[in-house]
Amino acid sequence: MRTDTAPLVRREDYAPPPFWIRTVELTFDLDPAKTMVINRMTVERNRAVPAGPLRLHGEELNLTRVLADGQSVSFRHEPGFLVIDNLPEGDFTLEIRNTCCPEKNTQLSGLYTSGGGFFTQCEAEGFRRITYFLDRPDVMAVYTVTLRASQAQYPVLLSNGNLVEQGELEGGRHFAKWHDPFPKPSYLFALVAADLVAREQHIRTRSGSEHLLQVWVRRGDLDKTEHAMNSLVASVVWDEARFKLPLDLERFMIVAVGDFNMGAMENKGLNIFNTKYVLATPATATDTDYFGIESVVGHEYFHNWTGNRVTCRDWFQLSLKEGLTVFRDQEFSMDMVESASARAVKRIEDVRGLRQVQFPEDAGPMAHPVRPDSYVEINNFYTATVYEKGGEVVRMMQTLVGRDGFARGMTLYFERHDGQAVTCDDFAQAIADANAESELARTLPGFKRWYAQAGTPRVTARGRYDAPTRTYTLGLEQAPGPTAGPGAEPFVIPITVGLIGRSGRALPVELEDETPSSATSRLLVLDEAKAFFTFVNVDEPPVPSLLRGFSAPVVLSDGLGDDELLVLLNHDSDPFNRWEAGQRLALARILAAVAGDAPDTLDSAFVDAMRRVLRSPELDAAFKELVLTLPSEIYVAEQLERVDPQRIHAVRESMKAQLAGALRADWEWAYDTLQVTGAYRPDPVDAGRRALVNLALSMLCIDAVARGDEAWPGRAYQRVKDASNMTDRQGALGALLGSHAALAKPALERFHALFANEPLVIDKWFSMQASAPERDGEVFGAVKRLLHHPDFSLANPNRARSLIGAFCMGNPAGFHRADGAGYAFWADRVLELDAMNRQLAARMARVMDRWKQLAEPYRGLAEAALRRVAAHPTLSSDTREIVGRALG
Ligand code: PHE
Ligand code: ZN
Repeated sequence: MRTDTAPLVRREDYAPPPFWIRTVELTFDLDPAKTMVINRMTVERNRAVPAGPLRLHGEELNLTRVLADGQSVSFRHEPGFLVIDNLPEGDFTLEIRNTCCPEKNTQLSGLYTSGGGFFTQCEAEGFRRITYFLDRPDVMAVYTVTLRASQAQYPVLLSNGNLVEQGELEGGRHFAKWHDPFPKPSYLFALVAADLVAREQHIRTRSGSEHLLQVWVRRGDLDKTEHAMNSLVASVVWDEARFKLPLDLERFMIVAVGDFNMGAMENKGLNIFNTKYVLATPATATDTDYFGIESVVGHEYFHNWTGNRVTCRDWFQLSLKEGLTVFRDQEFSMDMVESASARAVKRIEDVRGLRQVQFPEDAGPMAHPVRPDSYVEINNFYTATVYEKGGEVVRMMQTLVGRDGFARGMTLYFERHDGQAVTCDDFAQAIADANAESELARTLPGFKRWYAQAGTPRVTARGRYDAPTRTYTLGLEQAPGPTAGPGAEPFVIPITVGLIGRSGRALPVELEDETPSSATSRLLVLDEAKAFFTFVNVDEPPVPSLLRGFSAPVVLSDGLGDDELLVLLNHDSDPFNRWEAGQRLALARILAAVAGDAPDTLDSAFVDAMRRVLRSPELDAAFKELVLTLPSEIYVAEQLERVDPQRIHAVRESMKAQLAGALRADWEWAYDTLQVTGAYRPDPVDAGRRALVNLALSMLCIDAVARGDEAWPGRAYQRVKDASNMTDRQGALGALLGSHAALAKPALERFHALFANEPLVIDKWFSMQASAPERDGEVFGAVKRLLHHPDFSLANPNRARSLIGAFCMGNPAGFHRADGAGYAFWADRVLELDAMNRQLAARMARVMDRWKQLAEPYRGLAEAALRRVAAHPTLSSDTREIVGRALG
């Protein structure tokens, strides 16, 4: 048993293991109540380190025997370990037999049951819940796995690698033997035994090799696998084309499981996925779901090289694989769309996510460097910082060395490190070494601070135009974020810039002493606390367009006023900054009203600008939808030192209502002209139109309900009843909920009746209710009632997230109540969950990260709830680490 006083693990304490495990032969006799595991290992001493006892990890296991070279040996137990002191000299074999109990494994880490089948999840430290092992990523072994189980109940038996043998056994049992030729760390082990069916596809890659692709799902779900398979084929093709990284396995499998803590897992050759990222039909999945499937299928597939062929030396290096693979899946999704505009839309969405989740994380009690220095529970460090900020760090490398230079760097990385377990430094070194003349190579020691220092850096920009010399001098200054720690040093910040004339003309961006060029966009590298850049041949006072494409994960303040932002919104050739300008105009108004410095009435300059965007003949619908969506309540809160969530909600809702009313004719026009007809296709153009139509419909419903007009809610209700795809149907239901229309209730009932047998749709049904805009505690009341709905279950992570996560994280105005009842609800659910699934509980606990920012009475009430959770006697170390950091 793991104790809840788990110690702090430090990066600086890393030491190579005293033993290597070279091969593993595993035999499983699968039984839900008592599975027997035989584990035969060949063990080598690591002669580079002093000899010592063999300390194998093990958790919640029953040991039945230990043999070294066939002889029994003495052993002892320490918390979390099996310790063997007297081992044969030299190398030896070790055989361990143990049992575990999959059906009682509610943590979903290790071997567990779901929907009548067996599944495993071993990252990060789940393998030790299956058998005793050196469960650390720098110990890599070749696995041979035999599975034995009842043939009737578990007709499909899968593990990593290639199927080498299968057959029948007596007593209605059968077996399958798998061999994975690639040495791998234990966290990449997987097995599945269940009653499943597969969609299959054979592909021949560029190099001419043949492969079998399979997507395994429960019977009845096969018709929902086409998109996942298409995404997998596209991923294989893309990685070979962009990075010359081929599929290295004869067989590549994806298995979908309904109970899963995360999105998906990259086990070698046998990816296991949350059903949410596999199953889709137009009737059950939205455009967002379709794009999510494409990116997660890509992400897990790309791990086959970045993560599996080259893995992490230790868990502090997690971003080595995750940051890089996030970057790769983002690039994949961008390369999958045709237009520059659709690429920009993807970039905007990614940045919006980064700011909404990672920036707050990096400013709060869980702030940590991309390569953390310590942890109690590694599961708590699968964070937006390691993933999304880590992805931004890799993106900055590509920006500094260029796209071709980055591909060369990747090639060198694999030449050097294929088959190894390495560090973030090794990666950065390879990219720099392959680009010796680059800005990355020049600044490498400073650049690596992105891995070492936490916090979001602030960049302040001030420009001065000098008419007589036609020069524009840009001063850039950086300061580390407050969580960077004492003695933080300057970051290396790539800043892509353009200059724009008042009439919208792109001006040259030539620095003094440079050979003239006609470029209108360029890269500046800020690698000191402060620097000046002088642009020459600037004919007029420019509006600077800085940090184009969000070229670095920083907070920029450039002091631009409304007029200048309007120039950028109307003319910037960089779509990201165009969107950003619109968001900043909106944000300024929201913040002024929240502060009480201005009324919450929107001015006509802003409304007209929004109308121009909405009516623009040149802009794509997807882009318009992003511009016309006001900054989220969470993003607004992040700009403030003292947060009153109710005030933010009231101001934002009021401004939304004003945009709804002032642009009514424009929303009607958009709704009428942009409907997508014909068969559903999840492509960016159609999806953009659907998104804008849905936004229009919600605006029209808000405006109609305010005026007591029934027509638009009536139309939305009709659409809930007979929409031909889930995007439209969910959009219509959202419009009813978002406008507090009376028809929301019957619409919800309809929706449930239509999809009673589709768990992923029922998840939407819960989460839409939980995240509907709060009014007079109605949503909170509904959420409490839904806890007792027959379809609700805390044991299923998707369902728990769909109700509790959606309410506590996605509904600030419902959650932050002046009576503290939202916090009490949170505390109760976290404690319930903690006894069942500590990883999930710890994630839910993160809701309170930013409690110290809250204004009273929220702050005091939030603290009381946190203290109640912290005082719980049997709290897991996972949740304890989160609430401890929050309070500390
Ligand atoms: N490694 C998985 C991914 O990023 C995420 C994951 C982590 C899944 C831990 C399960 C457990 O693709
Ligand atoms: Zn990953």
